[in-house]
Amino acid sequence: MKHLFPALILLLGLSLQAAAEANISIATDHIQLVLKVKDNGRLYQTYLGERLSAQTDIGLLSQPYGRLSSTGIKGFEAYPVMGTEDYYEPAFELRHTDGHPTSILKYKGHTQEAGHTAITLQDDLYPITVVLHYEVFPREDIIRQWSEITHGEKGRVSIVRYASSMLYFEAPQYFLTEFSGDWAEEMRMSSQQLQYGKKIVDSRLGTRANMFASPFFEVGIGSPVSEDHGTVLMGTLAWTGNFRFTFEVDHDGALRVVSGINPDASTYILKKDDTFRTPDFIFTLSTEGTGLGSRRFQRWALAHRLYKGKDDRLTLLNNWENTYFDFDEKKLTDLFGEAKDLGVDLFLLDDGWFGNKYPRKDDHAGLGDWQVTRSKLPGGIPYLVKAANERGVDFGIWIEPEMVNPKSELAEQHPDWILKWDGREDYYFRNQLVLDLANPKVQDFVFGIVDSLMQENPRIKFMKWDCNSPITNIFSHYEKTEQGNLYVDYVRGLYSVLQRVQERYPDLYLMMCSGGGGRSDYEGLRYFTEFWCSDNTDPVERIFIQWGYSHFMPAKAMCAHVTNWNNRASVKFRVDVAFTGKLGFDIGLKGLSANDMAYCRQAIAEYNRLKPVIFSPELYRLVSPYDGEHCVLERVSEDRSQALVFAYDMHPRYGEQQLPVRLKGLNPDARYRVNEICLMPGQKSRLACSGRTFTGDYLMKVGVTLTSSGELVSHIVELKAEP
Ligand code: GLA
Repeated sequence: MKHLFPALILLLGLSLQAAAEANISIATDHIQLVLKVKDNGRLYQTYLGERLSAQTDIGLLSQPYGRLSSTGIKGFEAYPVMGTEDYYEPAFELRHTDGHPTSILKYKGHTQEAGHTAITLQDDLYPITVVLHYEVFPREDIIRQWSEITHGEKGRVSIVRYASSMLYFEAPQYFLTEFSGDWAEEMRMSSQQLQYGKKIVDSRLGTRANMFASPFFEVGIGSPVSEDHGTVLMGTLAWTGNFRFTFEVDHDGALRVVSGINPDASTYILKKDDTFRTPDFIFTLSTEGTGLGSRRFQRWALAHRLYKGKDDRLTLLNNWENTYFDFDEKKLTDLFGEAKDLGVDLFLLDDGWFGNKYPRKDDHAGLGDWQVTRSKLPGGIPYLVKAANERGVDFGIWIEPEMVNPKSELAEQHPDWILKWDGREDYYFRNQLVLDLANPKVQDFVFGIVDSLMQENPRIKFMKWDCNSPITNIFSHYEKTEQGNLYVDYVRGLYSVLQRVQERYPDLYLMMCSGGGGRSDYEGLRYFTEFWCSDNTDPVERIFIQWGYSHFMPAKAMCAHVTNWNNRASVKFRVDVAFTGKLGFDIGLKGLSANDMAYCRQAIAEYNRLKPVIFSPELYRLVSPYDGEHCVLERVSEDRSQALVFAYDMHPRYGEQQLPVRLKGLNPDARYRVNEICLMPGQKSRLACSGRTFTGDYLMKVGVTLTSSGELVSHIVELKAEP
């Protein structure tokens, strides 16, 4: 035994030594992140950039460049904690049972298997374990990152900060692009230079990520963000709730990007041996601007994230803007016929079909009472599904299962299921309150809404799942003394319901909607086949909104409907804008002229023919609406044999110069036949390029004229490589 001690110490020393030398490389085809354990046993980022070609070079990455030792900071710690010599924004803070706020996390080991790296960190003094996870998707050049926190302390332990990701950069300057806005103004892009200090983009809406700020960002590293040039970090937090991105430039000019759940009002009580898993932070680092980054995100979402990402999508006719709450069986069956006549796949019945004691005849009552209003729809939903199917269209239905009107039977029966405080006046957002999804009984109730609709009507093909209110009057009867857990548990409760829905009804198509684009996040995409981008369907506004979303979202997921917003725009213009997303109609068809109706029918047929190109992740944003009065987008098929170009003129100035637009992503050696499609009945193309052939080389170097000085003019151009 006596002789074992020196041997043990030697062994320990060796393993520490090995750990101190360990470089952990996390690489896709083009990106590399390198972490290293230093001699203090802690883990540091030594590199994040373009993939290094020689393995030996990784060994040279010992020091983070330019760190001043006088500050005490020893480098870019991979998961810095509160209370150490690092004085900037930490990733982690845990309050121990004895009140201590610090945990020094040291490297204990890691595994690397099938693209997944898991690094275990532990505190020497307290039983705290943090596992940092990194999953790489080499071909898509996407890295997915999250952490898992566990403790073995007896008593009340709370986690105060729990980031999903911490990344560092060193460059002379940084430029942030954020996507903010409001209801009907989603995804407004704006950019600013990051200077010393913090810039925070966050939200605190509880039920959704987005209303003012959306959970996406881009940071130009070294130069402003641009479409085809420069290094840009593009990231998103996959979380349907409060998020926070912190961008902090330190005294040395280094930038740290901290991403995770917004810890505000969310100090989380973590039970002994439970694991707290943070949401995914998903990112790419493009050295060829945001265009490449967007294609990577779209490709990844289609392959690995979006529900039914490889499947087809259904075009639809929605009745919301046509009838609002004012419909009956006769009106609806007529609309089924119209949907068929138009040529869409599905009819979507919106809000207003439920409630008996408090019928849902406007948005003041009935929410929560998911029984069909018998006086309005005596045959119930089965009658409607049958009638729609007999007319040759599928049937879909709107629900808003997480919400309740105070004027409802549900609110009368289960006041404790509602998030609201006692003894104060409630604040109603759209006359409603939010149910407490942290409560498993409420989860069962919400699942039961979908379940009973599906049990009664197995042929329902589609549901629009709405969520119109953020959490107001925050208090959960279920969480009792652990109110800090509510924001997180609400979202987890939602996921657990959605998981059950998906397992039970895997064929159901689901639209995620939240008073417009409030829910449009990457975790939602796991459960939903698509999302509602915005209640604003004015085509000019939609050009901007869809432009913003296209930075991260695939076209297949972005619901775009033709409506009556902005009647100054022709029906063709409105259809042509919706054509770039997941096409639908929410308009009274009887009000359309014969020509417009004929155009819509033709457009739907063309849309169905061209879906493989429209849904391709190969998007090239050619002319930005932010740069003037035009927007031009191009989608290229994966094999580059086909492409579609969408050109929109908004409100150009008189005599404005029209420059040729150079296309991108084509095969330079192929010869493409160019044809304007989707013309109005009797209309001839005015584009000089239509009907001619060009090499890909010519189209990409010289370009063709696609814009004009006409107001609200649109063109859809098809390119086909000749055999
Ligand atoms: C939200 C949605 C709309 C519609 C209404 C119904 O506002 O964004 O599309 O479904 O609810 O009340």
